Amino acid sequence: MPKPVVLVAEELSPAGIALLEEDFEVRSVNGADRSQLLPALAGVDALIVRSATKVDSEALAAGSALKVVARAGVGLDNVDVEAATKAGVLVVNAPTSNIISAAEQAINLLLASARNTAPAHAALVNGEWKRSKYTGVELYDKTVGIVGLGRIGVLVAQRLEAFGTNLIAYDPFVQPARAAQLGVEVVTLDELLERSDFITVHLPKTADTIGLIGEEALGKVKPGVRVINAARGGIVDETALYNAIKAGRVAGAGIDVFAKEPCTDSPLFELESVVVAPHLGASTHEAQEKAGTQVARSVKLALSGEFVPDA
Ligand code: MLT
Repeated sequence: MPKPVVLVAEELSPAGIALLEEDFEVRSVNGADRSQLLPALAGVDALIVRSATKVDSEALAAGSALKVVARAGVGLDNVDVEAATKAGVLVVNAPTSNIISAAEQAINLLLASARNTAPAHAALVNGEWKRSKYTGVELYDKTVGIVGLGRIGVLVAQRLEAFGTNLIAYDPFVQPARAAQLGVEVVTLDELLERSDFITVHLPKTADTIGLIGEEALGKVKPGVRVINAARGGIVDETALYNAIKAGRVAGAGIDVFAKEPCTDSPLFELESVVVAPHLGASTHEAQEKAGTQVARSVKLALSGEFVPDA
């Protein structure tokens, strides 16, 4: 009997691939290229993606034999879960695989923004020894506003505590007792905007969160704030951020994610006070190993008709 077919549409860890190869025929394709993806979906039982592959009704129709779509990461914003459910396709992800890596990337960008790491590096390797130009700010005794105190926001809070920061958070769903345990004061979004020296976003991308940190919000911030987004592109509006930095209201930013990815050209790239990365939050060996093996296990369970627990 032929083995079920798993189509891997983005890079997956070797450990994840090895698990899949125990039971399945594993094929690969560049999921970001629709002209390759759609024909490759024919006769496929399971599809594995990360962030670059759009799993919409068209892809689901092309994969009429699909039983499961697995996303090797947190969140499901590039998968049309409603359309998949209607088509009888199970959708799974690896919700805890990269939360530590994502939290560490937010802290990395926060520190890089506070200490001008990127422009100082660029200047020095260009032969310029400029100490006063790149004077930064301490985190100690600063107020950090965490927008979204979910799994990743909590890890960020726990790590920032070691820097002696004052932590405030906006999250309409958080249990006040849980926040208190973490030493985090829960406030309204307006209060967070007014009080924070740093704002770091840790929300999923939904209709309610797109543009949440946009022109209106950035008009209310404490002058000199630095804004970090290692969550999802578009939650911080890139044009509004650019304008707020140009106007001198926002001192800098650390941006790992963009509204449209891949993003190789943005007005933000012109600004020395903005440190950017190409969506690297989950890109660590550890996170990729966990994501790869978690989704491979879920696909195995799903294709053998068994219950797939939350990872
Ligand atoms: C995630 O949602 O976990 C990441 O954004 C996945 C990725 O890096 O592609």
